[in-house]
Amino acid sequence: MTRDVTLALIGLGNVGRAFLDLLVRKEAVLAQRYGLRLSVVAAADSSGGVWDPVGLDPAALLAHKRSGRGAGAFPVVRGATVLPGGGVRLDPVELVRMAQADCVVEASPVNLRTGQPGLDCARAALGGGADLVLANKGPLVHAFAELEALAAANGRGLAYSATVCGALPVVNVGRRDLAACDIRRVRGIFNSTSNSILAAMARGESYDSALRAAQEAGIAEADPSLDVEGWDTANKLVIIANSVLRQPATLADVQPVEGIGGITPALMAAGQARSETVKLVATAERDPGGRYRLSVRPEWLPGDDFLAGVRGWEMGIVWDTDIMGLQQHKVDERGPIPTAAAVLRDVITLCGKAQ
Ligand SMILES: NC(=O)c1ccc[n+]([C@@H]2O[C@H](COP(=O)([O-])OP(=O)(O)OC[C@H]3O[C@@H](n4cnc5c(N)ncnc54)[C@H](OP(=O)(O)O)[C@@H]3O)[C@@H](O)[C@H]2O)c1
Repeated sequence: MTRDVTLALIGLGNVGRAFLDLLVRKEAVLAQRYGLRLSVVAAADSSGGVWDPVGLDPAALLAHKRSGRGAGAFPVVRGATVLPGGGVRLDPVELVRMAQADCVVEASPVNLRTGQPGLDCARAALGGGADLVLANKGPLVHAFAELEALAAANGRGLAYSATVCGALPVVNVGRRDLAACDIRRVRGIFNSTSNSILAAMARGESYDSALRAAQEAGIAEADPSLDVEGWDTANKLVIIANSVLRQPATLADVQPVEGIGGITPALMAAGQARSETVKLVATAERDPGGRYRLSVRPEWLPGDDFLAGVRGWEMGIVWDTDIMGLQQHKVDERGPIPTAAAVLRDVITLCGKAQ
């Protein structure tokens, strides 16, 4: 039995385009393994949106975006009839409301000030009866409890495994696989842009050329200050605190949030002389009162620390648990495909039937 699932895709950047690519490449696997036929009925970028209840051709939409054109100008084709200028020009929130897709995938940029437009898209999705998959951390950092409550009240699924280190299974491991564990401490390197910049600086390369390489690979945030000033890492820690550690938290609870801007070539050389490696480390550590203290800052680590071995483009996490030992996981992610694959993983979890 195959289930038809309609999708609205908000954001057609590195992640959104990689997701379209996976829909084409994995069509047969999705049908055979999970009984899923996914069809994109609406898509939006900063130029506007396009909606066609019959379904948009993902390969054609991908080619259209790759040619530099916006979603609002995507031609909707029905048989021999081409409707010029796309179906409807809409902002993403209107588009979500109108399309009434089974599942909304939100991959617009992080907005730390307001969470928008992702937050209102998320509200419109769950409030309108759709499942919601987030790649965008903004809505969760602004309104984690509200979105969980909205999903529960409407009986819809909310998944966001891509928001914390892309394909590295952090949220899923933390919530499901560390069942009944008392998590004493979490440490991690959650931002591959800053990690690759530190690695390049250790090799004597410049900060600027390393940042350019991360941008070209499609892994840097639209606003790269989020990466290098520690805010992207702090966002991920806030999501872990809320979802895995079950401690309500916002960015104001992460103290300090310190980036890698203070790491100079001289400090790097001194660290190397001590056989230490500098890493941007996120920590959640329980205090004697049972609350987790959250922080993000550069740390000088000895070579035998697991996180010292999280190199270049890699990201990693160490879970210190009472009954499942010290678990150490890392991933080598280059480019946005693994994040798009994590989005697909969430769509499968919410909409598919494992076979
Ligand atoms: N890249 C990664 O490896 C990665 C990993 C994990 C999580 N994420 C998260 O995934 C999200 C997307 O990342 P990305 O790398 O794909 O970003 P991106 O390349 O900057 O793409 C952002 C997309 O959102 C669109 N957009 C911007 N403002 C919009 C608006 N007001 N309404 C609708 N669409 C709008 C952009 O439109 P245009 O195409 O017209 O510019 C673009 O298509 C971000 O929240 C990011 O934090 C990314």
